[in-house]
Amino acid sequence: MRDALRAVIDPELGDNIVDLGMVTGVDVSAAGVIEVGVALTIAGCPLRSQLEHDVTSRLASLPGVASVQVRMGEMDAAGRAEVMSRARWKARQNAPETGIDATTRILAVGSGKGGVGKSSVTVNLAVALARRGLTVGVLDADIWGFSVPRLLGMDGGIEARQGKMIPLELPVGSGLLKVLSMGFLADEDRAIMWRGLVLNRAVQQFLEDAEWGTLDYLLVDLPPGTGDVQMGLARMLPRTELLIVTTPPVAAQKVASRAADMARRGYLRVAGVIENMSDFTCEHGTTYRLFGSGGGGRLAREIGVPLIGNVPIHPEVASGGDSGSPVALGDGELAGIFAELARVVAEEVAPVIETSGCTARLLDQIAEAVSGEPVVAPPV
Ligand SMILES: Nc1ncnc2c1ncn2[C@@H]1O[C@H](COP(=O)(O)OP(=O)(O)O)[C@@H](O)[C@H]1O
Ligand SMILES: [Mg+2]
Repeated sequence: MRDALRAVIDPELGDNIVDLGMVTGVDVSAAGVIEVGVALTIAGCPLRSQLEHDVTSRLASLPGVASVQVRMGEMDAAGRAEVMSRARWKARQNAPETGIDATTRILAVGSGKGGVGKSSVTVNLAVALARRGLTVGVLDADIWGFSVPRLLGMDGGIEARQGKMIPLELPVGSGLLKVLSMGFLADEDRAIMWRGLVLNRAVQQFLEDAEWGTLDYLLVDLPPGTGDVQMGLARMLPRTELLIVTTPPVAAQKVASRAADMARRGYLRVAGVIENMSDFTCEHGTTYRLFGSGGGGRLAREIGVPLIGNVPIHPEVASGGDSGSPVALGDGELAGIFAELARVVAEEVAPVIETSGCTARLLDQIAEAVSGEPVVAPPV
């Protein structure tokens, strides 16, 4: 039970609610009814419903659990100070490990299988988020099959500054993309040699040995499947959330179990599902359900997360990728579809962690008050 609750991360504080001391009590009745008390740092915290939902879904999936009731409360000043001290300690512990700020929202784009359009969705969503004026990191974690540089029309070598890799930048509208990919490291031949040496550490190096600077989002384009990269990411950045890309035809049951499994093994929260290669409408207005329809919605319902949107199958998505000019950069209908995806992500599913938010604001105040204080682990 505690392990299940440890999987619930307060995304602002970057730690799980058990270790943060936010779980005030757990009662289990003989009939399998669980009552959990959760104390928020501030009662009106915008993360309230997300935490409530996460706690419920984690516990409800345990064997023998009939129902879950969450009692949300508010911490007193002493409790709040303790949580902040714990979070601050944790943040400092984590700081040297990755170059990703605590206020960056991390979304990994994954799927049960390859070829469903993960990379296409990642770059177009990144572009659409940047067009909202945001700074968006794109980490191409598909080490063997990197495609992000081609899709974004970027090339060049990564430069190092004081031993840290500097992501390549691409201004988009009033926003900015910062990109790291194996594709930037060397030409194809040298890359293969390099891969042989540190292949299984490449993603870790992109996180630890890179200077990402301040990001609103980090989108991670995952390799196909549910393997080591996903687990490593979950370990290094446990607050990572998954966006699952699926196509309409895939037997929803199978993909659902694979995707849910990926999330469970890494204790990652699934933020939502995006259906790619949905209905295609030709210029005469006829809609073709080339691959059937409804798979995304079915999958979302099955794992109990929102369907963020549907991206139609359209030759311009493919040609935009081939020419290195993502459709989301344009002003046509497809760009509008990605703009709407970005809106749902940024406003509903995974809002930017604003530094004016409840706990972040408190963190600032406390950091100011205690700056210079030695780093010691507070009692848990
Ligand atoms: N919505 C779409 N419409 C048409 N072609 C698409 C669409 N999404 C992806 N593609 C094409 O499908 C292929 C696989 O996409 P890709 O993004 O590389 O998938 P993955 O990263 O999951 O392997 C590419 O050729 C891409 O251009
Ligand atoms: Mg890909």
